[in-house]
Amino acid sequence: MFNLVLFGPPGSGKGTQSENIVTNYNLLHISTGDLLRDEVSRHTPLGTEAKKYMDQGMLVPDEVVIGMISGKIDEMPDARGFVFDGFPRTRTQAEALDKLLEFKNTKIHLVLSLEVPEADLIKRLVGRGETSGRSDDTEEVITKRIKEYHLKTTPVANYYNSYGKLETVVGSNTIEETFKALAKHINKYILPVT
Ligand code: AP5
Ligand code: MG
Repeated sequence: MFNLVLFGPPGSGKGTQSENIVTNYNLLHISTGDLLRDEVSRHTPLGTEAKKYMDQGMLVPDEVVIGMISGKIDEMPDARGFVFDGFPRTRTQAEALDKLLEFKNTKIHLVLSLEVPEADLIKRLVGRGETSGRSDDTEEVITKRIKEYHLKTTPVANYYNSYGKLETVVGSNTIEETFKALAKHINKYILPVT
């Protein structure tokens, strides 16, 4: 198994690049943002609870997200590996993920952190907001999401760095160039299938 965390602030291209990576390497994409939006659209109790935080650009409580992810990993026992997108976002989540994977005799192999200047992040997300229908793609909430990232999520990079798993990648070039830069790191572990 090969398990990758795609890390980076809101708008850094985690979702876009995850799509490319899962297709090229035949991995499974786990995006907590997508899973939460699915719960919201189905009006489940979890979704109703999560929406309160998401609409304000705040992180959903750890126990809600960890419970959701553990079920997802269990659903896919024969996967070649996972790409975690938007998870873990706190040190507590990172430690919980390590435990879940250890239970499956596997681990996080690599964390790729996409680095994009803040002005570009805002421009990208405001642009996406014109068509995405995402309630958190307004300039006010985008700013809050970026703040929340600096406050609660950057410690996750330090956590993985302390295990020698973190690599940074320039995320401000084109989508194709960024994918090539990510692939260089991934190819040290597994090769593309296409
Ligand atoms: P989530 O859905 O994870 O959103 P996010 O991290 O804020 O990031 P985005 O999905 O907005 O950006 P992205 O990095 O995926 O970029 P994308 O590829 O889309 O989380 C949403 C909310 O859910 C959180 O605020 C929180 O409330 C909750 N949540 C989720 N996970 C959680 C967790 N683990 N714990 C607690 N709460 C959680 O690209 C953005 C735009 O840029 C697109 O329009 C794209 O086309 C464009 N673009 C991409 N790459 C490029 C490029 N190279 N050049 C130009 N444009 C580009
Ligand atoms: Mg995303």
